[in-house]
Amino acid sequence: MRRAITPTGRERKLEEESFIVSRTDPTGKITYANRVFMEISGYPERDLIGVQHNLIRHPDMPRGVFHFLWEELAAGREFLGFVKNLCSNGDHYWVFASVNPEYDPDKTTRGYYSVRRRPPDSAIAAIDPIYREMLRIEQGCSSKKQAPKESLNYLQELLSGKGVSYEQFVLDLYLA
Ligand SMILES: Cc1cc2nc3c(=O)[nH]c(=O)nc-3n(C[C@H](O)[C@H](O)[C@H](O)COP(=O)(O)O)c2cc1C
Repeated sequence: MRRAITPTGRERKLEEESFIVSRTDPTGKITYANRVFMEISGYPERDLIGVQHNLIRHPDMPRGVFHFLWEELAAGREFLGFVKNLCSNGDHYWVFASVNPEYDPDKTTRGYYSVRRRPPDSAIAAIDPIYREMLRIEQGCSSKKQAPKESLNYLQELLSGKGVSYEQFVLDLYLA
């Protein structure tokens, strides 16, 4: 059993020019982590390789976001989005992530890879209250299975009300 980590509320910032890179197998177990990932998350390589990527899942992150991530990957598409991650000591860091499938020559899915950069503070300020509302919806949902779908529904309705696609919304925030 993994030891539960208590969030400290302290934020770490990724350097402007840095990239966090990781790769996983088809089930989401980490197969590669670059040095920046190890440094900011506080985990040495031996604690990352072979471990599910949810090791760094922050409890403030709504499940609906990851539900959408896996839906996009299963459909062979790139996922773009803002993610708040948990460090080994409970601190957190925000990233703008691109997650993509990787294929073998025979076109079977070999796994996935992700590249993340530092998001602007304005993007974090915009996405944080939306994630909080998604989390509130999930916590109020009686069915654990239905909860991520309901919170994702909220996000999709919010964006369709603004007349903007999810991808355009996150790119506009990232490039602001
Ligand atoms: C390549 C790749 C990178 C991922 N990166 C992260 C990440 O940085 N943080 C995170 O919480 N989940 C990440 N995930 C998603 C996790 O696998 C997992 O779905 C998520 O943490 C939610 O955990 P849960 O499914 O146990 O609720 C990534 C998945 C893949 C395939």
